[in-house]
Amino acid sequence: LPTLQKTLHHSPTGNGHSSVPFVASEATKLSILHAIELGYRHFDTAAVYQSEKPLGEAIRLGSIKSRYELFITSKLWCTDAHHHLVLPALRQTLQNLQLEYLDLYLIHFPVSSKPGEYVFPFRTEELLPLDIKSVWEAMEECQKLGLTKSIGVSNFSCKKLEKLLAVAKIPPAVNQVEMNPLWQQKKLIEFCKEKGIHITAYSPLGAKGTPWGTNKVMECEVLKEIGDARGKTVAQVCLRWVYEQGVSVLVKSFNKERIKQNLEIFDWTLSQEDLQKIELIPQHRGNPALGVISNEGPYQSLEDLWDGEI
Ligand code: A2P
Repeated sequence: LPTLQKTLHHSPTGNGHSSVPFVASEATKLSILHAIELGYRHFDTAAVYQSEKPLGEAIRLGSIKSRYELFITSKLWCTDAHHHLVLPALRQTLQNLQLEYLDLYLIHFPVSSKPGEYVFPFRTEELLPLDIKSVWEAMEECQKLGLTKSIGVSNFSCKKLEKLLAVAKIPPAVNQVEMNPLWQQKKLIEFCKEKGIHITAYSPLGAKGTPWGTNKVMECEVLKEIGDARGKTVAQVCLRWVYEQGVSVLVKSFNKERIKQNLEIFDWTLSQEDLQKIELIPQHRGNPALGVISNEGPYQSLEDLWDGEI
């Protein structure tokens, strides 16, 4: 596949989810259709986003000649992060998407919660420790059954990946994490490179406009200066920077012009000087997932959750 198809992704949020900004499924479908026309081929969804159905509809309506053109990722929500619920959850995801297999299935977050209704933000009293060994066994089973080409995780620290690698028969293919010039994830990238785990970046623009997002990325002066000097937008500088780290990018937009703009990062490069300036930007985890922290739950502090990577 051309680089563009391999590395640029479109990540729609969904509708109907209690506290995620509401986006009608029709709008999701239309923006995906537009992205398909422009050449996006990797789409990232999750059971909890409720964007699986509109994504499936857009895939059927769009100008996709063969399933092999696409790379579709979805994620197991914490409510289903129990050994016996993984396979049924994946089957439901496939039914929502009307696909026979996923390219990548991820454990969404290193926590489980009481089975039942999907709830976000988390209800801390319902959170449970993730039994990584038994849940991963079920993920491995999904891959063996051919329901997903590969399996991985999301929001895992180096330490949590170590624990997973110690019990995994099939190692995780991917760790999907927050990453942008204000949260560069250097230690995690180094670790994953050593272990052969590919990184996918979410919130490459800081996810502004969401409850967990920040304007700081798009308003960063260093990025503005670099963009101005090159005739590029801050968003393009961010996306190009992530791409140059050897990381896949999940960028989200419902705006036709910005969906197009976000693809236009392959015919130019950042200079050494640009990269050095970006390296010096003060670091800040935009989405620490504070809602997971509670005295009774599996994570009593951010230190526990991110194992020092904060
Ligand atoms: P919109 O849908 O109106 O384009 P992230 O990918 O980090 O989660 O960020 C998504 C947010 O960034 C959305 O609010 C999206 O808004 C906005 N966005 C996406 N692409 C661009 C762009 N090229 N320039 C400015 N904002 C963008």
